[in-house]
Amino acid sequence: MSKSHRIAMLGTGLIGMFYTMTLHGQRRRDRVAMVYSRDAAKVKAFAKEWGIPKSTTDMRAAIEDAEVDVVVIGLPNHLHEEAVIIAAEAGKAVLCTKPLGRTAAEAKRMLDAVERAGVFHGYLEDLVYDPKSLKSLQSVKDGAIGDVLWVRSREAHSGPHSAWFWDMEKAGGGAIIDLGCHCAEICRDFIGKDVRPVEAMCWADTLVHPTKAEDHAIALVRYDNGAIGQFEVSWGFKGGMDLRDEVSGTEGTIWINHFLRTGFEMYTRSGGGYVAEKTDSESGWLFPVGDETSELGYVDMFTDMFDAMDSNREPMETFYDGYVVNAILDACYGSAKSRQWEPIELVDWRGAAHTPKISPPTSEHEGQLLVKRERLPDGKVRLILQDKATGRVTQKYIDG
Ligand SMILES: NC(=O)c1ccc[n+]([C@@H]2O[C@H](COP(=O)([O-])OP(=O)(O)OC[C@H]3O[C@@H](n4cnc5c(N)ncnc54)[C@H](O)[C@@H]3O)[C@@H](O)[C@H]2O)c1
Repeated sequence: MSKSHRIAMLGTGLIGMFYTMTLHGQRRRDRVAMVYSRDAAKVKAFAKEWGIPKSTTDMRAAIEDAEVDVVVIGLPNHLHEEAVIIAAEAGKAVLCTKPLGRTAAEAKRMLDAVERAGVFHGYLEDLVYDPKSLKSLQSVKDGAIGDVLWVRSREAHSGPHSAWFWDMEKAGGGAIIDLGCHCAEICRDFIGKDVRPVEAMCWADTLVHPTKAEDHAIALVRYDNGAIGQFEVSWGFKGGMDLRDEVSGTEGTIWINHFLRTGFEMYTRSGGGYVAEKTDSESGWLFPVGDETSELGYVDMFTDMFDAMDSNREPMETFYDGYVVNAILDACYGSAKSRQWEPIELVDWRGAAHTPKISPPTSEHEGQLLVKRERLPDGKVRLILQDKATGRVTQKYIDG
């Protein structure tokens, strides 16, 4: 049996709570041994609630605690770098929530720090680890949908729950950095991490909230092989948390609905309290989520992180992935401003230098290229054909 780990949890907000709930759930053996938050009363109450033996208001003391071998960062975005640097210097394994940095430059400094120190690093992008995504990613790897052409990832809710998210300086942006980071990595995972993301085109606007941060955005990210990652994010969506992914391939399609319409529907006249994260209402027809820690990917994510640590391999998501995501988002912000396609600047690219354009095998009919075959409502089969020499497109019926 592999060893168990002793974790320092940095942050006692929403994600610190979800991570601790996951780590201490279902008889798992890795435990939070130390928790840090800047508020003394809050950190003590959190430690008591989750059975954590030690707590502190000193971040360095939490990280450097002799018993701790893994640091989990669940702090606001502007504090990730400081926490990573201290953890790397202390020689501790470090797992950081999303987004890794506020910019690619910040993320690169974090990547360099952990690599220089030679410590284990994991990027906690939970939404590629939920059971539906893991199964879909495996199906794509197994060739079930052919070559991936287009991935559409959507995350939309009514806006974040804490003031710092709305502060551009602390968060590094609005809905793009907060939600687009998930979507960008989901698209990248399906298209293939070896394929270079080349350029991005993005629209962003502040449509609803009285803040400087963008609360809506749509982006297209073009990959070297011609595949497109499309993300849609909103902090103004009404009706709960809309988390959906669509993957289109040359041989098939995958649709995933993570949160609303999961097959679990409940009606309540009076309301029964908490339903699921960012649910807009607590009565009427509701769409609860069976086990949020699992359906949001936290369970499989921590399993992969600790298994990887114990077997000296990389986890599925590393700081390098977090850095690539930040580079994609930097280009999206640049494009939203310039209203042009903007190049994705990757000073450190570790994938393929070039991936040939997706080109599925073509079929022929009587010496012509077969463009399309379709059975029409009258039962007849029509072929659309292109002459190889002239490029002329014609149609004909066949018996079939
Ligand atoms: N699905 C996900 O992976 C997911 C979901 C939510 C949040 N997050 C990420 O987790 C991080 C924290 O988000 P959250 O939702 O838990 O936020 P939160 O506001 O709920 O909690 C933030 C925590 O940091 C502490 N904090 C705030 N400002 C601080 C400061 N200046 N110095 C020290 N501590 C400070 C707060 O007291 C609290 O403990 C962010 O990077 C966010 O993007 C990830």
